[in-house]
Amino acid sequence: MTDSQIEKVLFTPETIAKRINQLAFEIDITYKSIGSDAPLTLVGILKGSYMFLADLSRALNTPHHVDFMSVSSYEDTQSTGNLKIECDLRHSIKGKHVIIVEDIVDTGRTLAHLQKLLWNRQPYCVEVATLFSKPTERVVDVPVHYTGFDLNPPEFIVGYGLDYNEHFRNLPYVGVPTQAAIRELSLK
Ligand code: IMP
Ligand code: MG
Repeated sequence: MTDSQIEKVLFTPETIAKRINQLAFEIDITYKSIGSDAPLTLVGILKGSYMFLADLSRALNTPHHVDFMSVSSYEDTQSTGNLKIECDLRHSIKGKHVIIVEDIVDTGRTLAHLQKLLWNRQPYCVEVATLFSKPTERVVDVPVHYTGFDLNPPEFIVGYGLDYNEHFRNLPYVGVPTQAAIRELSLK
């Protein structure tokens, strides 16, 4: 299935599934090797991470809880990116081993704010798993522990949770939208 508004498919459902299984394996091994009793919580950042979180959660052997947060960035007067919590976690993360689950890390601003915010809540530790990363676009040096795929060049991608103006999230693959689609969907 290739949507006519998609110029090219970069990651097929099979490629994504295979990589997520590898990430889950890596997380299982790391968690075991730490040997702590801190319970594991996956914190999915809505909306983009919903598919990744569902598949990562199913692929993990380590018992864990899931929770969600929704944040949006805004520019304050100094025009540094800041974070507004639209929807907060339902449960405390105090003493817990937290893995933030992100769809994509671009400049790293969102993640840097999020990490700071979650560290203030006295977790055992905070790690980050992102399905995609654009390392060349980073303006904040933020630690990412588990990365699915680096995007070089840093193209704008959609599908598998990622959107353009809320479109394309449901695509089972990840691809680049056509310029015509971008024009058309920016007007709606
Ligand atoms: P950052 O704060 O610049 O790292 O922003 C990351 C956020 O920007 C992601 O959570 C996405 O919502 C959005 N984003 C960045 N690159 C893309 C992309 O290629 N496709 C869709 N959303 C993107
Ligand atoms: Mg996001």
